[in-house]
Amino acid sequence: MWGGRFASGPADIMEEINASIDFDKALAPQDIAGSLAHVAMLAKTGIVGAEDADAIARGLRQVKGEIEAGGFAFSRGLEDIHMNVESRLAEIIGAPAGRLHTARSRNDQVATDFKLWTRDTLDALMTQIAGLQKALAERALASADMAMPGFTHLQSAQPVTFGHHLLAYVEMLARDAGRFADARRRLNECPLGAAALAGTSFPIDRFATAEALGFDRPTANSLDSVADRDFVLEALSAASICAVHLSRLAEEIVLWTTAQFGFVRLSDAFSTGSSIMPQKRNPDAAELVRGKSGRVTGALVGLLTVMKGLPLAYSKDMQEDKEGAMDGLRTLSLCLAAMTGMVRDMTPDAARMKASASAGYSTATDLADWLVRALKMPFREAHHVTGRIVGLASAKGVALEALTLAEMRNVEPRLTGEALEVLSVENSVRSRTSYGGTAPDNVRAQAEGWLGRLANV
Ligand code: ARG
Repeated sequence: MWGGRFASGPADIMEEINASIDFDKALAPQDIAGSLAHVAMLAKTGIVGAEDADAIARGLRQVKGEIEAGGFAFSRGLEDIHMNVESRLAEIIGAPAGRLHTARSRNDQVATDFKLWTRDTLDALMTQIAGLQKALAERALASADMAMPGFTHLQSAQPVTFGHHLLAYVEMLARDAGRFADARRRLNECPLGAAALAGTSFPIDRFATAEALGFDRPTANSLDSVADRDFVLEALSAASICAVHLSRLAEEIVLWTTAQFGFVRLSDAFSTGSSIMPQKRNPDAAELVRGKSGRVTGALVGLLTVMKGLPLAYSKDMQEDKEGAMDGLRTLSLCLAAMTGMVRDMTPDAARMKASASAGYSTATDLADWLVRALKMPFREAHHVTGRIVGLASAKGVALEALTLAEMRNVEPRLTGEALEVLSVENSVRSRTSYGGTAPDNVRAQAEGWLGRLANV
């Protein structure tokens, strides 16, 4: 394809380091779509005659069919997807194939192909995120009243509901989807027609190709068009944050499914056994989601490192954008699917969670709040008084609600029976009615709101 000024072919090792076909063959559908838009534009502008353009389009469709059928012989000698497709086109239609590459370069071609691939991938990921949000919101609605301990520092803090906890992840995923949508919006400018780096002297119509490929407009600067990989970096950044969210949920599932917590049981479909310990049910899927987040982040850091310090415009280093990005985004897709399956299948243990929710003096804040409300005590003083009551319970080795009113009155004589009521987990949770708080009515309203918004997923 480019051998005109070369006397001999590349060394074997040159071919090995240079060829990208093993991974960029995944761009075949996008490459052919880009070529079809390009040749239609070349015909419309009179740069290529109608007959040749028709032959090229027909030939490209045949190549597409051959690749889809799985019988296409990809060749490393032809380096990449662009030259594999064009070479086969030449075999099929002969000389007119040589006109396809008029007014374009592989530099704008690969940027276009990879943008189209990334756009499709972002769309699929956004659909998957919505699916996981829906699975979480459905569970949240079903467990709006289910008390569990809320933690800070992984120490029992205040009771919350399991539904509220799950909805926290729905919020995180909404921000992830927002980042993907934002990246997609910014990505959607077409580099095709920037040619190698400087534009072209042919009277091309870049607005026509941009429109034909579903882009909002052509890119405005030809150098930037072929040098830019922000769209992949943004996709991987958003993917990394999403993977970190999934990893945090995965870690919670790992904790919740231990004998020590026992909050949740994973289905057989998402657990594995041990080859030596018959009693084991390991949460491998959750552990792998947690582990694979490293791969996604690795892809981001890898590409940032490739791009750092590259002068304008295109450099071959940029061929290194594909393997990591494809792996990273596919990994996120797998993690989203596995997490959706786990969330749908898991069984919470309401009794276990409730028992644990009242441990660790988790309603101490409720007592302090009562002192503020009922006795008009300043919060700092109420905090101190409650601390002394917790100390009393701790010295006796009992829960707060196991203290008698008389015992508590030794610390604060104005305490009444009403104060004892706020110590129950149910009342604690029910009292958290502030906007965004864990009260079951709030949780139900939030879950229903999400399910309404996600209805057509
Ligand atoms: N396979 C190349 C890539 O992925 C295509 C662009 C090659 N351009 C070049 N000037 N050699 O970046």
